[in-house]
Amino acid sequence: MEGIFITMEGPDGSGKTTQIDLLKKYLESRGYDIVIAREPGGTAIGEVIREVILNPAHKEMSHMTELLLYASARAQLVSQVIGPALLEGKAVICDRFVESSAVYQGIGRGLGVDTVYEVNNFALGDVKPKLTIFMDLDAEEGIKRKKKQANLDRMEMEDMTFHKRVVEGYRKLATLYPERIVPIDATLSIEEIHNRIVEEVEKRFFMG
Ligand code: TMP
Repeated sequence: MEGIFITMEGPDGSGKTTQIDLLKKYLESRGYDIVIAREPGGTAIGEVIREVILNPAHKEMSHMTELLLYASARAQLVSQVIGPALLEGKAVICDRFVESSAVYQGIGRGLGVDTVYEVNNFALGDVKPKLTIFMDLDAEEGIKRKKKQANLDRMEMEDMTFHKRVVEGYRKLATLYPERIVPIDATLSIEEIHNRIVEEVEKRFFMG
């Protein structure tokens, strides 16, 4: 069996985790061994980098440092977890991947999407997802959902205009790469969203 690589994207609070759990069960029912990874993190080294990036005390972090730290954590995740799992024919679901850097650092921080893809292409080689689900939710709604949870991290503490740029960025990428990035209305019910995701997975991996 060939490996399957799917990434899940969207603003904070858009319900990615819930959908990843459901997608995992679905792919298991299809006979796959599943690997779930989250970004930044997913490896011992990546979790340390995550701590450095998201620590609210690190206010002085430059945007370029931030971009490179995300890319470093991702490079480690690809070489240690994602690459080997795909070679073994597993299904990998990644909670955030390159598109998070494209929108948060490229658009939100203003470093430019092209710069972000260039850095990441260098860091990751040819390991690329075949399907990217974008949980489309207005920034206000996402942050409202998040604020009900405990402490906000350094990214979540950014102002609303930043988070709006992020969501607009995702919408733009979805129009630029429609063959890979599929936007799904995150205000639909959990079940409706799951069904839409399954439809896309079937189409890309199990038909024809
Ligand atoms: P999360 O684990 O709650 O999704 O938190 C990760 C935060 O990091 C989230 O606010 C999005 C942000 N992020 C980036 O800014 N760039 C990236 O490349 C990734 C993976 C995440």
